[in-house]
Amino acid sequence: MTVDLLLGLQWGDEGKGKIVDVLTSKYDIIARFQGGPNAGHTLEFDGIKHVLRTIPSGIFHEKSVNIIGNGVVIDPVVFVKELEGLEKFNIDIVSRLFISRKAHLILPTHRLLDAASEASKGKAKIGSTLKGIGPTYMDKTGRNGIRVGDIELVDFKERYRALADKHQSMIDFYNVDLEYDLAELETEFFTAIEELKKLTFIDSEEYLNKAMKEGKTILAEGAQGSLLDIDFGTYPFVTSSNTTAAGACTGLGIAPNKVKDVFGIFKAYTTRVGSGPFPTELFDEDGATMARVGNEFGSVTGRARRCGWLDLVALKYAVQVNGVTALYMMKGDVLSGFDTLKICTAYEYKGKQTDYLPYNIEPENVTPVFVEKKGWAADLTGMTTYDQLPAELKEYIEFIERELEVPIKVVSVGPDRTQTIMK
Ligand code: IMP
Repeated sequence: MTVDLLLGLQWGDEGKGKIVDVLTSKYDIIARFQGGPNAGHTLEFDGIKHVLRTIPSGIFHEKSVNIIGNGVVIDPVVFVKELEGLEKFNIDIVSRLFISRKAHLILPTHRLLDAASEASKGKAKIGSTLKGIGPTYMDKTGRNGIRVGDIELVDFKERYRALADKHQSMIDFYNVDLEYDLAELETEFFTAIEELKKLTFIDSEEYLNKAMKEGKTILAEGAQGSLLDIDFGTYPFVTSSNTTAAGACTGLGIAPNKVKDVFGIFKAYTTRVGSGPFPTELFDEDGATMARVGNEFGSVTGRARRCGWLDLVALKYAVQVNGVTALYMMKGDVLSGFDTLKICTAYEYKGKQTDYLPYNIEPENVTPVFVEKKGWAADLTGMTTYDQLPAELKEYIEFIERELEVPIKVVSVGPDRTQTIMK
């Protein structure tokens, strides 16, 4: 059997959680392959709204096994709070959620380092979620990290101490104002480690490859978005992992030739949270309307998201890097009520038009070129079939399909599981 991938094509927050949740009944296994608690995957069903941070979005489906892959970074403290939040759903977590021994742990000092690093950058800060993601991946590639499997070792505490002490001297080096009580943070950390130990640690690459041989179906769930990829995103304003399709192979131990479909999720417009270039960003009433109607506030940090028109230059790039085979368009309902919609099809770059994402996309380097499309007034949130959608929206959808040369399979018209139109 093969693996399908589901990932975001913009700067995150595309609505991946909802789609994984909609798709999970079709898969035996849902596996997260990168990122950590910087993610906030929102699911809504039966009048309940739930945000998942590290746990895969298949956890609400009785039949699916959920795996946290080696490419993920785990903060035990956040993770245990997440487990507590799930208690009311009576899910048999122990038999349904497995963690890779090779996943790296976020230490309290990683979070402090994140804060110190950002504070030291001043205006040039990344706008990190401050969850310790960057410092943890730095320790991973620097070969200093502590992994889930280390919890089972007798000298776990010594390993922890050595790394935390090293971090402490790095924090001091930053020489920024940071208030914290490390002893308290460490008590919280080790209490959470004890809870984590109640779950099953696995060699997830072995588990997944065996499952494939047995004919099981796997959906790999990405976090953040392609434009936040450490290699292909808008560096340095990116996250510290490979959010693109290749990240699923390294983050789960799955060979590239096992990947079949790549589902690319995008919003009908564009948002970004944190710093960094955003060519189609709006600073006017239209942007404010998108933010208000789309409730564009970060599910992890609560920060207001920046909003702008759909950017097909960036989207085309993401489709190419990921090898997207099917597109899922989210939040179509948020665009109801605009007389005219704009879609960016090219950038003016160095005196020429380009439809390729250049190295520099800061406002002084690129000017977006837009085509205009007629908007629609109808409220889409109660619609259930493609035929019911207004003609202008169908034209909007079909224009995107022609430009990207990939079919849009699903149009989402609201946050609930049921507000999902198959095309
Ligand atoms: P970090 O991954 O927390 O270090 O954040 C790096 C950048 O990625 C910042 O601009 C964050 O706002 C952004 N980011 C990280 N995770 C997410 C996400 O799940 N959704 C949207 N943006 C994110």
